[in-house]
Amino acid sequence: MPPSVPTVHAVAPQTRAEAPESVAEGGGWATLAGAQDADTCALWLDVADWSPWRRRATALLDAAERARVERMRRPADREMLTIAYAAHRLLLASCLGRAPEAVPLTRDARGCPRVPGTAWHTSLSHADGAVAIAASRVGPVGIDLETRARAGLMPELAERICSPAELRRYAAMGPEALLALWVRKEAVLKACGWGLGVEMSGIEVPDGASCVLPRDGRRVHVAMLPVGAAHVAALASPGPDGIRHVPWWRP
Ligand SMILES: CC(C)(COP(=O)(O)OP(=O)(O)OC[C@H]1O[C@@H](n2cnc3c(N)ncnc32)[C@H](O)[C@@H]1OP(=O)(O)O)[C@@H](O)C(=O)NCCC(=O)NCCS
Repeated sequence: MPPSVPTVHAVAPQTRAEAPESVAEGGGWATLAGAQDADTCALWLDVADWSPWRRRATALLDAAERARVERMRRPADREMLTIAYAAHRLLLASCLGRAPEAVPLTRDARGCPRVPGTAWHTSLSHADGAVAIAASRVGPVGIDLETRARAGLMPELAERICSPAELRRYAAMGPEALLALWVRKEAVLKACGWGLGVEMSGIEVPDGASCVLPRDGRRVHVAMLPVGAAHVAALASPGPDGIRHVPWWRP
């Protein structure tokens, strides 16, 4: 009996009408049907749902990805990274119409994932048993996922997270609102490719609005993603999204 069907939650593509709603078998792996027609895709997954396919996921990784997995001391982190890197390749394979092993996925000097030789921008986040991935062929994307348990740490980071104006507003709003602001800002900083190399307090990122990417000048739309009770996530993408939940047969 095959293991039960894991679910991937995908954000609908932005400018083409079809969302990647169905799945198709290809070469023994399911592909996200519709991803090839989409301008922007994002998804998140629960690592536990995918662990039955860990061995097959390992086979998809390149040498650099395997080395990064091996550097993790905790078995749970090794499993999470294996699934994250395999799912990243599988999403991009669907977008590009190539085999996962043939996706030219690399990281630049700052650690930002790149797909050289293609129009695609991409972003990855992994935290405590969950993975979020975004890809767009129309402009930069950034995705960030954090465990909700981190909210308790946020008040002491408030000055690092908030601009002076945000600090006044968010002081009254509590740790959950600060964590949401954190993931929106991290999504923006990943979209510009600098990560925490740019100060969070230097940008303002309201929910459901657009903002200018630091050191880049292009605009991104930033929205919270629904990722279940245990996590909080945000996507910075070239435009506003409708959000759909879609099944994906397996990694
Ligand atoms: C990107 C960054 C914000 C990740 O933060 P995190 O919440 O710990 O981790 P996440 O799981 O959300 O994201 C990790 C992924 O982001 C991506 N990433 C790494 N650096 C990135 C960058 N500069 N821009 C965009 N994405 C980046 C990678 O895919 C990474 O996964 P991998 O390391 O397994 O390949 C952080 O690592 C960072 O800022 N790196 C840049 C280096 C830097 O300037 N550091 C300054 C430290 S103060």
